[in-house]
Amino acid sequence: EKAGFDHFMMKEIYDQPKAYRDTIGSRISEDGSRVVLDEIGMTADEIRRIRNIHIVACGTAYHAGLVGKSVIEKLVRIPVEADVASEYRYRAPIITPETLVIVVSQSGETADTLAALREAKRSGARVLAITNVVGSSVSREADDVLVTWAGPEIAVASTKAYTTQLMAFYLLGLYLAQTLETLEQAEIVRTLAAMQSLPEQVESILARSEEIKAYAEKIASHEHLFFIGRGLDYAVALEGSLKLKEISYIHSEAYPAGELKHGTLALIEEGVPVIALGLQTELIEKTVSNIKEVTARGGEVLGIAYEGDNELAKSVDRTFSIPRTLDLLSPALTVIPLQLLSYYASLARGNDVDKPRNLAKSVTVE
Ligand code: F6R
Repeated sequence: EKAGFDHFMMKEIYDQPKAYRDTIGSRISEDGSRVVLDEIGMTADEIRRIRNIHIVACGTAYHAGLVGKSVIEKLVRIPVEADVASEYRYRAPIITPETLVIVVSQSGETADTLAALREAKRSGARVLAITNVVGSSVSREADDVLVTWAGPEIAVASTKAYTTQLMAFYLLGLYLAQTLETLEQAEIVRTLAAMQSLPEQVESILARSEEIKAYAEKIASHEHLFFIGRGLDYAVALEGSLKLKEISYIHSEAYPAGELKHGTLALIEEGVPVIALGLQTELIEKTVSNIKEVTARGGEVLGIAYEGDNELAKSVDRTFSIPRTLDLLSPALTVIPLQLLSYYASLARGNDVDKPRNLAKSVTVE
């Protein structure tokens, strides 16, 4: 059932091209001009009445929600807040009938996420669930359900659930944009076409997994590591950092690149590994100057950059390159080397990759 792989996690990482195709699948019209989301029951009028959106989830699903927040705000210009479910449910969130609450859960059984969903419904909000399990509690209680067709995820560390959650957010963002006419038709077509190229691009990254393996073996003996990035790159950095902590037990922190000098830079010294994500074209120059702050103090930087981005490559010790895509879609590619990194680092440290200590796949208690 591991399909020839040593661990479920690796199988699931390699499942991703298919998981992307299955999740996007029939949700793009045949002529590639629009998103078809028949499972969303909201009428155009109901969509027009949405004043704000809350995205609520835990862990990796929350990190997908952070990408979702940027995507929806960019495409639709409706204010979006993303919150961790265990915080949301106790902070008396301001929910009105004009709020759309989006809960994200692979299992659909996470206690805090389910409690947040119930709180939202009590307050009169419409609830849309993004989940991987048809028939789960979350899917039964939500008003609308957008299923991620990742297939069963067995490894405790979430990989293909996260990336298909990203696909769900791209589809949803474009669907809202086409309904509210906040995006040029040509831009919708361009984004959908770029989405359809993602599976093949993921395959091309997976074909270079040895590069990441070599880097993972190099950093496996370190106790601390930093991820830096801006905008969407920061959201992906958070996910890369969680994955690394979760299965390799290497301590890491994700930092917005511009925030380093407000404290964390004190921890950068000779030889500290730093992974810098630079896929947000308009911000690359800014990120490069943050990279220089790190290298000037002896930090050793792995840059993750688009193919041919010499500006970033010049400023770092080594680079892992990502095929070109729209910056908005880049998280769907950037996270792949970070998943591989945590896998190989865990392996190099002799850990149980699929069953990390202290963790359960589905957290059904508070
Ligand atoms: C990390 C991980 C967890 C889950 C979180 C939410 O790799 O798997 O952080 O993402 O426990 O679980 P779901 O999505 O089932 O609600």
